[in-house]
Amino acid sequence: MTDHDERTFVMVKPDGVQRGLIGDIVTRLETKGLKMVGGKFMRIDEELAHEHYAEHEDKPFFDGLVSFITSGPVFAMVWEGADATRQVRQLMGATDAQDAAPGTIRGDYGNDLGHNLIHGSDHEDEGANEREIALFFDDDELVDWDRDASAWVYEDLADHD
Ligand code: RTP
Ligand code: MG
Repeated sequence: MTDHDERTFVMVKPDGVQRGLIGDIVTRLETKGLKMVGGKFMRIDEELAHEHYAEHEDKPFFDGLVSFITSGPVFAMVWEGADATRQVRQLMGATDAQDAAPGTIRGDYGNDLGHNLIHGSDHEDEGANEREIALFFDDDELVDWDRDASAWVYEDLADHD
């Protein structure tokens, strides 16, 4: 049976918060059928920014990236579902919003590479989802719950013939 419990880390970045897009971004993930199991409105400090973006430490854009991600509040979340990490990346669209397909979050609302609204764990980086969840959330901040709609989201959970 498909694993419906994969968890991924997602964050509305400071530009998304400032532009009032938290609700819309949450709606897109909810209506896809993903289940929110954690959420935290917070400000990222310098130390957390360095840890979160450690893979980019040596890149020329690193300082700008840290100053942007710490520039205002973010909405950090954990979402659960089948293939959740890759599914969220598909809903987000390409990193450079100018290349992101219409219908994706970045494609519909973004206009450049720096202000691209949303972060999601990289599905091509094994274990990135678990690492990022642990960086932002304690275990007791995540909620196990059954979403009744799951039987209508996933065919293999349906109880009709
Ligand atoms: P994110 O980690 O923020 O979700 O974005 P991503 O996976 O789609 O892209 P990633 O390669 O991890 O890059 C992290 C963020 O750094 C900025 N960036 N700037 N100037 C540049 O060449 C450059 N490349 C990446 C982007 O804002 C990207 O979201
Ligand atoms: Mg990334």
